[in-house]
Amino acid sequence: MKSTLPRGPRYIVQGGAVLRGDVPISGAKNHALAAMCASLLTEDEVILNNVPEISDARSLAQLLTNLGAGVEWTAPNTLRLVGGTVGKVETPSELITENRASFQVMGPLLARLGRASSVPPGGDVIGQRPLDVHLGGFHYMGASIRREGERYVVEAPEGGLRGARLFMDYPSVSGTQNVVMAAALARGHSTIVNAATEPEVQHLCHMLNAMGGHIEGIGTQMLEVDGVERLHGATIDIMPDRIEAGTFAVAAAMTAGDVRLNGAPVEVMDALWAKLRDAGATVTIEGPACARIASDGHLRGVNFQALPYPGLATDLHAPLAAMLTQAHGVSIIHERVFDNRMLYVGELRKMGAEIVSTGSSAIVVGKAQLNGAHVRALDVRAGAAVLLAALVAHGETTIDDVSHLDRGYEKLAEKLRGLGTAIERQ
Ligand code: EPU
Repeated sequence: MKSTLPRGPRYIVQGGAVLRGDVPISGAKNHALAAMCASLLTEDEVILNNVPEISDARSLAQLLTNLGAGVEWTAPNTLRLVGGTVGKVETPSELITENRASFQVMGPLLARLGRASSVPPGGDVIGQRPLDVHLGGFHYMGASIRREGERYVVEAPEGGLRGARLFMDYPSVSGTQNVVMAAALARGHSTIVNAATEPEVQHLCHMLNAMGGHIEGIGTQMLEVDGVERLHGATIDIMPDRIEAGTFAVAAAMTAGDVRLNGAPVEVMDALWAKLRDAGATVTIEGPACARIASDGHLRGVNFQALPYPGLATDLHAPLAAMLTQAHGVSIIHERVFDNRMLYVGELRKMGAEIVSTGSSAIVVGKAQLNGAHVRALDVRAGAAVLLAALVAHGETTIDDVSHLDRGYEKLAEKLRGLGTAIERQ
């Protein structure tokens, strides 16, 4: 029976491509989104260069505009943001539920304007994704937190947020970003214990320092923040996207290709390089921002665990699983970050993959012959997994719901075409 559910835009991919050539790596989604929220910490102008034109950035830009901020794309990947005009601290539900990162306006609004209110954010359905780390951090700094219907309302104490020594139950990426932004404008010193160390968190902290903040311990699990009275504007270059780079690296390895990643943040991708080499691919670091990935098509199964940085990124779990369907032998995968990151498994099985999941683990047996099928992009990285599988499948694959891929990959079809893939969007 045919489903009548709306399926959105789709990709039609012809299998059998061998990816070859150079691909430019775009700005990092998860750095850009946090940096956009950080612009609310100052009344001054913030210029962000190298912002990827992805739908998550566009929906967050809409949210900032709705709050009253000045938001202007002054060039294709350059955003000019002015937080001085923000007058509103209640985020509109329809814009918050589109995008997980939108909850990161809470810390800046709370710290600069004393109050913020939001429904829980949207984003991928990859797990329960609670907010206790974010809200707990605000609470440590003296904020009151209450629910009004679905909304969280957070309010700073009289005189503003107070620096505190605070412990995070889990080194949450967006939780750390939210709390460090609030601490940057709190009165006094904060120590954030068990902070996330992801490169996108580090780059946000450097941005806060460029705006006049005082943060030390960047890149460690203990962030020391001396709050300042005000932050000023800055011009920031968004770091390159290690997940986009990783996705193309995996694509090169699994199609027996040879691809140069131009502008990739090679120094923060060790975990992936190690796994690709273990699997039999050749990884050549050609410079601080350039890596070349090649393979003769004979890959071996490898085990991996998705972990917080510097472990293997959870966002590369599904793409790597797709690659392992083409590796000889058994691979065992453990997902240690999210509790529902296995959505891609059923889609890969439709294409002939021998993969089973149990809880947060999966077993892949290869090498399986994949066949073109009608599949769905169920979240941004699950979508990447089926797209990669489509590259090596026999025949044509139709991927529905590719709006999920639009959330995180800039010019994806164009870049794949540049490497020799026959892919069309309908
Ligand atoms: N968690 C808590 N409490 C919290 C927050 C998180 O227990 O208050 C738990 C979550 O349930 C999860 C774990 O912490 O099990 C990790 O979640 P985290 O908060 O670190 O993830 P996030 O900030 O929601 C960001 C990225 C994700 C990326 C993760 C992990 C953004 C906008 N999103 O999410 O990116 O997977 O960090 O690195 O920065 C993607 O790009 O596809 C994506 C989902």
